Amino acid sequence: MSRVVFCRAHPSLALIKYWGKSDSRRNLPATASLAVTLAGVHTETRVRPAPADRVTVDGMEQPVERYAPFFDVLRHRLRTAQRFRADSTNSFPTAAGLASSSSGFAALAAACARMAGRDLPAGELSAVARVGSASAARSLFGGFTLLPARARAARQLLPEQHWPELRVLVAVASPQAKAISSRQAMEATRGGSPFYRAWLASSGRLLPEAMEALQKRDLEKLGELARLSYSRMHAALLASDPPVLYWLPATVALVRECAELRRQGLGAWETIDAGPQVKVLCLAAEAARIAERLREAAGAAQPAYGAQPAYGAESAGGQIIECRPGPAPEVRVEEE
Ligand code: PMV
Repeated sequence: MSRVVFCRAHPSLALIKYWGKSDSRRNLPATASLAVTLAGVHTETRVRPAPADRVTVDGMEQPVERYAPFFDVLRHRLRTAQRFRADSTNSFPTAAGLASSSSGFAALAAACARMAGRDLPAGELSAVARVGSASAARSLFGGFTLLPARARAARQLLPEQHWPELRVLVAVASPQAKAISSRQAMEATRGGSPFYRAWLASSGRLLPEAMEALQKRDLEKLGELARLSYSRMHAALLASDPPVLYWLPATVALVRECAELRRQGLGAWETIDAGPQVKVLCLAAEAARIAERLREAAGAAQPAYGAQPAYGAESAGGQIIECRPGPAPEVRVEEE
């Protein structure tokens, strides 16, 4: 019998976005991010000892170079020479702007540490996961998290029980993997957008207000700040040279539908990451009504040019995944 370590981790959705690096080599974030860990979507990873590092995601072999800095730091922290084979599956479209890298690297860090026989504190695992993807530093914690600017690790601000009525409706505008990774797009913004400095300054100003709104469970205030954060991030992206536009027709339709819902008195505030998907903050009591309207809006929008259904039965877009504040990663040892 051999030992396998299993980990299930949940993606981290930023309400105040991290965008840009203060140190590319160490992968330190240039802006602070405030996020919620999402139950309702997850990555499941199984790790085994191996002669060389190997990672598959949804059955696809991943380029080793993408993972090398992460594994180097991991082995250094764990004081081991162990190599790992990791097989991951996502319960949602991969690399499509649904934060699969946050739950992916969090699960990988937690599972590899257990495999090496070292249960590092969550803060240490967070610092290791950050090397793979800065948003992954936040996925090591449940509930509501903060990754400060230039920080090596995230921390939990509030547990998931702080706001059990909060819902996030993930509206899938397209299940296709994005053409430009968040890493490349961040570099493009830093190097080529005249708005990059303004983005950094304005992002820092939104954070204290957002933390206060979260503490008070003031969804309207938090929702408005989340809208400013993603809109400014995408404005800086669009001003890059060459411009980066992640949005599709369904993305715009969903943003407009949220505005219409708010006009009609329903509480729906959207946010968008490095991809076309729209994530909508709302409360449990209104979630079903809002989900129905989002489904119709996304369904009525034109499909992306050349888009092929590639994920599940409802893959043509219009799929709505209901999420809520979720837990920290769960790790267990299995025998096979
Ligand atoms: O951690 P990365 O490289 O996947 O970048 C995440 C960037 C955003 O999702 C757009 C924002 C964030 O804070 O999660």
